Amino acid sequence: MISQDLDEAKRILLSEGVVAIPTETVYGLAASIRSSQGLEKIFKLKERPLFDPLIVHIHDLSQKDEVVSEWPVIAEILATEFWPGPLTIILSKSTNLNPLITAGLSTVALRMPLHPVAQKLLREVNVPLAAPSANKFGKVSPTLARHVEEEFGEELFVLDGGPSEFGLESTVVRINHDQIEILRPGMITKEKIQDVFMKEKLKVNIVRASSLASPGNLETHYQPKIPLAILSEDTDLVTKLKGKKTVEFILSPDPLITARTLYASLRELSESGAELIFVRRLAAQNGGAWEAIWDRLNRAASLK
Ligand code: TXA
Ligand code: MG
Repeated sequence: MISQDLDEAKRILLSEGVVAIPTETVYGLAASIRSSQGLEKIFKLKERPLFDPLIVHIHDLSQKDEVVSEWPVIAEILATEFWPGPLTIILSKSTNLNPLITAGLSTVALRMPLHPVAQKLLREVNVPLAAPSANKFGKVSPTLARHVEEEFGEELFVLDGGPSEFGLESTVVRINHDQIEILRPGMITKEKIQDVFMKEKLKVNIVRASSLASPGNLETHYQPKIPLAILSEDTDLVTKLKGKKTVEFILSPDPLITARTLYASLRELSESGAELIFVRRLAAQNGGAWEAIWDRLNRAASLK
């Protein structure tokens, strides 16, 4: 059921239930971090393997102590600069944290969302909420309440907060001494993070981690219902896609717009009657927010 009733969302969360919540990145499937029953429901609903850990969401830094056991200077700087916002920081977990959240790892993913409805709900519930993206495992993430309902049916309570502003999941970073590893690129780009530490005159090495660093970073993910093919600028269409009923996914030259509409477009093109979606990768679409866009499209593509 799609609703704007925040009190009802709160009631469900405080009675061990699961609700879908809006965030500025994508919709999440949320449960209280204190409820094993709620956490189990998330994995069951999503059909998510238990080895894939969840992100914990807080509204205020005072809530972090229930979740993490240390707070390095680099985390403080990142939080000051980018929270609330689409950045997730991996830190050592608090010893009392439910192991379901972290999939048995010694670290936990923490983020403070920017979306006003998410913030208000987190404040009202006043317990950190664990929430993965509200899609079945391996499928396209939802950026509208309707996407969540289409995937999980009417029984799930979906708190409607309108379309997600950024449209791609948060940037995930891990702090390793004086190094920041980017586990999942997002709209908080490597360049933006670099600028902050330059300004602080702190020497921090920012590197892209291998995809193995994050259990959920699988090669295939975000897959639309029909195959997606990525073509380079000069691929000859006729020989590559001969005989297929295709539809072209045309990206906006503005990466912010492309990111915001990416998942909704993949859903729509899947329903267009075509057998295959193709997208062209232009040479200029590099760096900044394009890195996150191509990360998702590469994993969405089943034909390369
Ligand atoms: O924007 C977002 O981050 C959204 C919204 C709902 O907040 N959430 C989201 O969650 O994208 P999810 O579960 O779909 O993706 C979380 C990613 C997964 O790839 C997971 O493996 C990784 O973060 N992750 C979580 N905890 C981790 C940890 N301790 N170490 C490494 N990777 C971790
Ligand atoms: Mg996800």
